[in-house]
Amino acid sequence: MAEHPDRADLILRHEPRERVLHWLVAVTFLFAAASGLALFHPALFWLAGALGGGTWSVVLHPFVGLAMALLFYAFARPLWADNRLTPGDRVWLRGLRDVVDGREDRLPEVGKYNAGQKVLYFVLVACLVLLLLSGLVIWRRYFAGYFPGRVVRLGALLHAFAAFVIVLGIVVHVAAALWLKGSVGAMTRGTVTLGWAWKHHRAWFRELVRPTGGR
Ligand code: HEM
Repeated sequence: MAEHPDRADLILRHEPRERVLHWLVAVTFLFAAASGLALFHPALFWLAGALGGGTWSVVLHPFVGLAMALLFYAFARPLWADNRLTPGDRVWLRGLRDVVDGREDRLPEVGKYNAGQKVLYFVLVACLVLLLLSGLVIWRRYFAGYFPGRVVRLGALLHAFAAFVIVLGIVVHVAAALWLKGSVGAMTRGTVTLGWAWKHHRAWFRELVRPTGGR
């Protein structure tokens, strides 16, 4: 088990590489979302003011979006195995009320990620794939000319749909991270307390403390 050098009750949850990639994804997401919304509707154009103006928003949006997709791939690819859904996850999802009420002990023990995080993970993967593909199709400067007009229009529709879902998904993700005390530290310092792991991710905790299974 990887212990924190200064505090024996802290364990490593996210390696530095993972944390750096996560926050790079978050920053590129915020830029892509704000510039995308600014271009989507005149009522939201004021957002472009914070990003250097309308021209910079138009020019940078696709490049930043592409960077976000590549960074997300590097970040999320190694997490695939830990996010595989199990039969216990279905029971956990049905018992969401107990999670909200802090009675997680009534539900199956949770591994590194809970079923809510796993579902969100796959929603994010699907959105990123859709945003990337549709984004390339509607990128006027380089690619849109290769596709018929109706394909570009369909691409624009799918792009807006995926953007809407991912923005909602990230609002839920951030709210859950702030709500669950101790989570944000997992992605900033990289560590959580043994108590946090025992309470919220008991199967992962057991794996870590198993003499041969720990990391
Ligand atoms: C903008 C503010 C954000 C905050 C405050 C935040 C917070 C966090 C925290 C605290 C964790 C660790 C949870 C744990 O260890 O149990 C985490 C994990 C994660 N975050 Fe974020 N995040 C943000 C943005 C994003 C964005 C923009 C994406 C992707 C588009 C993203 C994707 C993920 C993924 C995939 C995980 C791992 C969870 C899993 O694999 O199921 N996050 N985030």
